[in-house]
Amino acid sequence: MMVRLISKDLLGLEYLSKQEIELILDTAKPFKEIFTRSIKKVPTLRGKTIVLLFYEASTRTRTSFELAAKRLSADTVNIAVATSSVVKGESLVDTGKTLEAMKADFVVIRHGMSGAPHLLGRTIKASVINAGDGWHEHPTQGLLDIFTIREKMGSVKGKKVVLVGDILHSRVARSNIWGLTKLGARITVCGPSTLIPGYVEQINGVEVEYNLDKAIKSADVINILRIQLERQKENLFPSIREYSLLYGIDEERLALAKNDVIIMHPGPMNRGIEITSDVADGVNSVIYEQVTNGIAVRMAVLFLLAGGETATADVVE
Ligand code: CP
Repeated sequence: MMVRLISKDLLGLEYLSKQEIELILDTAKPFKEIFTRSIKKVPTLRGKTIVLLFYEASTRTRTSFELAAKRLSADTVNIAVATSSVVKGESLVDTGKTLEAMKADFVVIRHGMSGAPHLLGRTIKASVINAGDGWHEHPTQGLLDIFTIREKMGSVKGKKVVLVGDILHSRVARSNIWGLTKLGARITVCGPSTLIPGYVEQINGVEVEYNLDKAIKSADVINILRIQLERQKENLFPSIREYSLLYGIDEERLALAKNDVIIMHPGPMNRGIEITSDVADGVNSVIYEQVTNGIAVRMAVLFLLAGGETATADVVE
């Protein structure tokens, strides 16, 4: 059976089927092979225009989408929201209609409000890709995390993935939970009770463990989330020092896990708080491989949303 992406937009892993997620992951593989070439570029999306509309700061996601687009030969335009007409009060809908009038084919949007990409997707004909909306989802981060686990372990099914830290505010956690449970992984979320939303325990395939030493013992993957220092003013845990003692991963704690456990972090990292440098840069870490894989996954997303089918040798030649 031929699988295609059903929606014109990529808004979240909640809305994708297992088959659609697998299609994106399978398509990313041949695109990653392009990175080993001296000329890392194919003509697949020549003539397409991709607008990067980031209302929040980003290093990895924005650069990764831009590189993905350029490696597919698309034209890219960056809108620096701070110097755009958004500061004069232009609404998201009007900004979207303006980009549509300029014949953008894709709009990649990051926004502080959950649901902003959905509104944009309903407003314009171009494909809208969610690059992170509020606390809701960060689907391409979820996809690149799953791609990395598959690459390292062959399969996600039956693997124990521990998500550590601020689950409540984390769009990365939500996309991981949707994607990984659809592919049959077992998820343990671990963090202070104030940072774990009540609903997660109701999700099939997800369990909650407040003791990190117990949680990581049989883990295949530990995905460490950024502690969102900007939320600390809400007093959701007593102090950074206590958080670090209870939920930070250092070499001593890592020694409790399996020898071949993989350590992931979406970045940006707070070194010395949720992860020490010896763990971040140690042999179990795949953090920079996640970054590399992000480009391949985003190439696959752009290719498939443009109407492409499974990428074969002729697409990536
Ligand atoms: N992982 C991630 O979304 O990083 P950026 O905020 O740098 O894009």
